[in-house]
Amino acid sequence: MQLSGATALVTGANRDLGRHFARELLDRGAAKVYATARRPELVDLPGVEVLPLDVTDPASVAAAAAVAGDVTLLVNNAGVSHGVNLVDGDLSKIRATLDVHFYGTLAMIRAFAPVLGGNGGGAILNVLSNLSWLSYDGNNAYAVAKSAEWSLTNGVRLELAGQGTLVSGLVFGPTATETMRTHASDAVMNDPVDIVRTALDGIEAGTTEIIADRFGAEAKAALLGPPRGFVLETVTRAAG
Ligand SMILES: NC(=O)c1ccc[n+]([C@@H]2O[C@H](COP(=O)([O-])OP(=O)(O)OC[C@H]3O[C@@H](n4cnc5c(N)ncnc54)[C@H](OP(=O)(O)O)[C@@H]3O)[C@@H](O)[C@H]2O)c1
Repeated sequence: MQLSGATALVTGANRDLGRHFARELLDRGAAKVYATARRPELVDLPGVEVLPLDVTDPASVAAAAAVAGDVTLLVNNAGVSHGVNLVDGDLSKIRATLDVHFYGTLAMIRAFAPVLGGNGGGAILNVLSNLSWLSYDGNNAYAVAKSAEWSLTNGVRLELAGQGTLVSGLVFGPTATETMRTHASDAVMNDPVDIVRTALDGIEAGTTEIIADRFGAEAKAALLGPPRGFVLETVTRAAG
């Protein structure tokens, strides 16, 4: 898909990866970028169309789809990471994690699939994780949610093939954003700009599964062996 002239909508565009997506899309010549956020007053990028959007609120999703009927690229970036395990973690936080990553992404796709179809097919980019393929003791609810989002991505790809919509998943590991800086040093994490550029190169090339770093490649390779977890400490130790 050609991004020059495209109309994109990015969820969670007020900071970190979402903000980088919106900026890079403008840099690549997108005709319009809807930078959406639960708190739109925090969007500070010149040149974007700001829209309020909470992906877990059906009325908010419907309102965004009603306004943004010209979208040709949907970037499902919004995410949360509550750091909860499955057996003894707070069940409301487990549900909240799935609400954003799985049900939120699903709600956006259900609302925007007709829009994309009406505009010639377009593309959906779901921002996944190496934890779509690996568990992570301490944040297993997040891994479950990202795994579900990966399966969702593959199912939706089949369902939207008939209308010509490219459905891509972006897989990568620790990246220096606000959330991650509390866990690991910048020196061992990806630069968010590199991840966003690789992702958008993948969309322009029509790639269905964009594996953007070694963490993603290692996680995919690990699927061939016995199930195992990701250990963030190895990342942190590598910095020392
Ligand atoms: N950073 C990494 O190492 C890494 C690695 C792999 C995958 N990812 C994935 O990449 C994506 C972005 O990560 P990030 O590190 O940039 O995250 P982040 O810094 O935590 O930012 C998350 C963004 O999502 C928004 N958001 C949260 N809940 C939302 C909701 N219900 N509706 C709309 N927006 C909502 C946040 O808005 P508020 O500002 O209002 O909270 C914020 O703009 C996520 O899907 C994450 O799972 C990140």
